[in-house]
Amino acid sequence: MRFAVVLCIGLFSSNGYAQSHADLFAKVQTIFNNHCVSCHGSDEPTGGMSLVAGVSYKNIVNVPSNENGQLRRIAPNAPTDSYLFRKILQERERWPFAEDPMPLDADKLSTDEINTIKDWINSFPQDVWGAAKNITVADNHSAGEKESFLATQLINLPTTRTLGQKTAEFRILHRFGLINGGGSNTFGAFFGLDNGAFTSINLSLALRNDLDILVRRTGPFKDIEVAVKYVPVKQKPGMPVSLGFYAGFDWLSRKDIGKNRFAPNIQILAGSQLSKDLSILAVPSFTFKSNHNETVVKNGTEYKDTRYTMAVGLGAQYQFKPNAAITGEFIPRLDGYKGIKESQDPRFNTWSLGLLYKIRLHVFQVLISNTQFLHTTQYVAGSSAITENKLFKGGANFHFGFNIIRQFKW
Ligand code: HEC
Repeated sequence: MRFAVVLCIGLFSSNGYAQSHADLFAKVQTIFNNHCVSCHGSDEPTGGMSLVAGVSYKNIVNVPSNENGQLRRIAPNAPTDSYLFRKILQERERWPFAEDPMPLDADKLSTDEINTIKDWINSFPQDVWGAAKNITVADNHSAGEKESFLATQLINLPTTRTLGQKTAEFRILHRFGLINGGGSNTFGAFFGLDNGAFTSINLSLALRNDLDILVRRTGPFKDIEVAVKYVPVKQKPGMPVSLGFYAGFDWLSRKDIGKNRFAPNIQILAGSQLSKDLSILAVPSFTFKSNHNETVVKNGTEYKDTRYTMAVGLGAQYQFKPNAAITGEFIPRLDGYKGIKESQDPRFNTWSLGLLYKIRLHVFQVLISNTQFLHTTQYVAGSSAITENKLFKGGANFHFGFNIIRQFKW
C-alpha cells in the first residue's frame, strides 16, 4: 500500500513536472506569437530561427546560436547560457550578446514574460535532458564585445563598428549645396537643395568579423576611395576602448581638379561607450598629398605642394533612444596643408551635426555640415570652401545632407 502511494506520488509528480514544462512552453509560445513571429516567422525567418508554433521548440532547444556558436539558443536548465534569454534580458554587461537586443525595435518584454521564459528554461525534466552544463564565460570574441556605435560611420568619420561576418553594406551619402545658395538667397536656393550636391555611393563588405573593405565613388569630383577598416580590439569587460585603423587611398578620376590625384590616407580609430547613452570617438588622421592642386603660390613664388594633413577627428553619439541618436563631429587640423592662405583656398576645420535613426538593418541620418566633402583625403584636410568661418555671416552657410545605410546579411 505504502509502495503504491509512493509510486502514485512518483508518477504524479514526474507527470506533473512534464506537464508544467509543457504548460510553461504554451505560455512561452504565446509570448513568441505576440512579440517575435512578426520577424522570426516561417518564410526565411530572421536569423534563421523560426519561433512559429509547432517548429519553435526544435528551432531553439539545444540549437547553436548563429551569432555566437558557443551558446545554444536555449540551453535546458541554464537560462543565462541560453542566447535567446540573454537577448531578451538585455543585460549586455553581465550576459553579453552580439548584435541587437530582442525584441528588436520594440519595448523590452515585461518582467512576467521574462520570468515565464526563465521558468520554462528551468523546467526541462533532468531525467530526459540531463543537468545543465554551465558555460558561464562565453569567451567568444563576438559575444563578449560590444559595439559602441549604431553605425559604421558617425557622420563622415569611420567608427570602430565593423560589419560582422556575412554582411555587406550599401551607403548613399548626400550633401546639398550651401543653404544660402552660395550667395545670400536662402529661400531662392531652397536651403541649398537646388544647388550642386555631392553624392556618394559606397559599398563595404566584411572580410572577417573585424575587417571590412570599402569602395566608394563620389561626384562631382568623380573620385574613388578604396579603404580597409580593421578593428581587432573591441570594447568589452576589462577593455574600455575599441581600437583599430582605417587605411586606403583616394583617386581623382577627373583630371581638371588638380594634379595630386593619388592621395593615400590612414586613420587610427579609438571609440568607447562611456555609458548606456554616450559613446565617444577619436580619429587621429593623416592624409597625404591632401591638396589636389599640385602647385601653390607663396610670397609670389610657385612651388610644388605635396604636403600631408594631420588632424584629429573627434566625435560623439548620444543615444536618446535605443535606436536613435544625436551625432556630432569636429575635425581640427593640427599640421600640414590646411588649405588656407597659401593656395587661396579658404577651408576650415570640418564640423557636422546629425540626427540618426536605426531600424533593423537600416540607418537613416539627416545632418548639417560645413563640408560637402565625403572622402577621407578631403574632409580631413578641411571643409569644402566656404567664404566665412562664421555660421551666420552673409546668411547661414552650411549644408544640409543625409546618409542612408543599408546592411545585407546572409
Ligand atoms: C522587428 C524584427 C524582430 C523582432 C520583433 C524580433 N527579432 Fe529577433 N532578430 C531579428 C534580427 C534582424 C536578428 C538578426 C540580427 C540582429 O540581432 O539584428 C534577430 C536575431 C535573434 C536571435 C539570434 C539568433 C541566433 O541564432 O543567434 C535571437 C535569439 C532572437 N532574435 C530572439 C528574438 C525573440 C525571443 C524575439 C521576441 C521576444 C525576437 N527575437 C523578436 C529581428 C527581430
